[in-house]
Amino acid sequence: MANTICPLILSVLLFFLFLSSSSLSSSTDSFLYGGCTQEKYTPNSPFESNLNSLLTSLVNSATYSSYNNFTIVGSTPLDDVVYGLYQCRGDLSMPDCATCVARAVSQLGSLCSQTCGGALQLEGCYVKYDNATFLGVEDKTVVLKKCGSSNGYNPDAMTVRDGVLAGLAGSGGPYRVGGSGEIQGVAQCVGDLSFEECQDCVSEAIKRLKTDCGSADNGDLFLAKCYARYTTGGSHVSSKSHNDKSSSNGEKTFAIIIGLLAGIAILIIFIAFLRKICEGPGGK
Ligand SMILES: *[C@@H]1O[C@H](CO)[C@@H](O)[C@H](O)[C@H]1NC(C)=O
Ligand SMILES: *[C@@H]1O[C@H](CO)[C@@H](O)[C@H](O)[C@H]1NC(C)=O
Repeated sequence: MANTICPLILSVLLFFLFLSSSSLSSSTDSFLYGGCTQEKYTPNSPFESNLNSLLTSLVNSATYSSYNNFTIVGSTPLDDVVYGLYQCRGDLSMPDCATCVARAVSQLGSLCSQTCGGALQLEGCYVKYDNATFLGVEDKTVVLKKCGSSNGYNPDAMTVRDGVLAGLAGSGGPYRVGGSGEIQGVAQCVGDLSFEECQDCVSEAIKRLKTDCGSADNGDLFLAKCYARYTTGGSHVSSKSHNDKSSSNGEKTFAIIIGLLAGIAILIIFIAFLRKICEGPGGK
């Protein structure tokens, strides 16, 4: 009797565990793009353990910094070194940043199973790792281009759009927001670029955004180390005026996470207890 019921109870518990962790997702966790290298590493190799400690470092660091990079060198340095970084969107609070990076890392694990390199962009954060260094290297490869619908050519709207984008190009700093009328724009560089490289990368993204998206009412242009986006009607670009809301949301998320962790701890203890009962005295 116990032998059939116990596995059932266990799987129901695990199912709820899974449900509760996925219900935490919010708009900052929406998937934008991801990619993996062709080369795979050997399971249980030193590279794999270096990669695991890299990913752990990224997630830990995201609790106190919106950008960081790591280089993990193993005992045989030349073969097993792995480089990685993450960048959170400039307006995210630290708990939101940490939640986003944790989610990106877990999605990378399933998307890029055992590959030597991988990159993933969610709405709120970017994570990349590779066994070849890319830290501090400007890279203007187009990785995502998405243009919204075009409701006919509207010269006034395009003038406003071009003005917003020019404002983004002109304002320095790794994270830039701007808006005029209904049009909102945002641009961001990965934190490893210098001021000049960021300027150059954002200019390139904006140039392509204008030519490739024409008169579309929204557009996203992601290069490997920076992006530029705009929307009409402010649907999915967040601006500085949302700061207050996002930090209180952040505190809420943080409280939920703490609650969840406590819940998971209790569940794990309960599961361990159940297993003992299920296995019975001396049973296996
Ligand atoms: C990365 O790993 C792949 C596969 O193990 C290997 O072929 C390649 O040479 C490595 N690149 C570097 C820069 O170590
Ligand atoms: C990587 O991180 C180190 C230490 O945090 C920092 O000194 C260095 O400038 C960073 N490198 C890049 C390319 O961002």
